[in-house]
Amino acid sequence: MLARFGAEGKRGAGFFRINRAKSLKGFASALGEGSAKRKTPLFTFATETPEDWWEVEALYDLCFAPGREALSSYRLRDDVDPVAGLSLTARDADGILGGAIRYWPVHVGRVDALLLGPVAVHPTRQGEGLGGLLIQDSLGRAAKLGWERVMLVGDAPYYSRFGFSRLDGVEMPPPTNPERVLGHDLVPGAWDGVRGPVTRWA
Ligand SMILES: CC(C)(COP(=O)(O)OP(=O)(O)OC[C@H]1O[C@@H](n2cnc3c(N)ncnc32)[C@H](O)[C@@H]1OP(=O)(O)O)[C@@H](O)C(=O)NCCC(=O)NCCS
Repeated sequence: MLARFGAEGKRGAGFFRINRAKSLKGFASALGEGSAKRKTPLFTFATETPEDWWEVEALYDLCFAPGREALSSYRLRDDVDPVAGLSLTARDADGILGGAIRYWPVHVGRVDALLLGPVAVHPTRQGEGLGGLLIQDSLGRAAKLGWERVMLVGDAPYYSRFGFSRLDGVEMPPPTNPERVLGHDLVPGAWDGVRGPVTRWA
């Protein structure tokens, strides 16, 4: 469940309160059942701007192992712009970047799909639900923008909670462990029968 607090501050922005005690499960208290003292901090979600780019890159460098850009998924991003309106930053009340998510468009066989990622949350903010909120909020935006399917390369134990499951027959550029190729329908049945190589957007 997403909890949105306050009005939209500007286009693409939203305000999300994270409960440090236990984020997603803690939204009941964020919604009024618990102590106000437990409601920390307030994050503002906004669509990423060109001015955010290097700050987000620094966050990814911090959160991922060195050499992340050597991963095969990055070859699908080379010389392709992220999807406008879907890449998000989450900043706290002081404007400090707590997390970020980006999406790229790809082709899978003959259909279009979104490639989710990278998504990362600053180590001091992890485990509070921010990653989950970034994923769920951006997936909602993707559906509203008319995208039908999303894929990623990641840990099934984490992404299954957002509805992702193994995609059989969808081939990422090697070397990619097929067990980590996951998909999620934004429209019912959107991945049914979709097979083939994942290729760079053209
Ligand atoms: C993965 C990441 C974005 C999650 O953000 P977060 O804000 O910490 O996540 P949330 O608070 O929404 O969720 C925390 C839960 O996810 C679980 N989790 C986090 N990463 C996980 C993983 N790789 N595999 C399985 N579970 C994972 C935590 O154990 C916790 O479980 P719980 O709810 O049962 O206690 C963040 O940990 C991160 O930036 N990691 C480093 C970069 C990275 O690996 N990105 C994803 C690439 S696939």
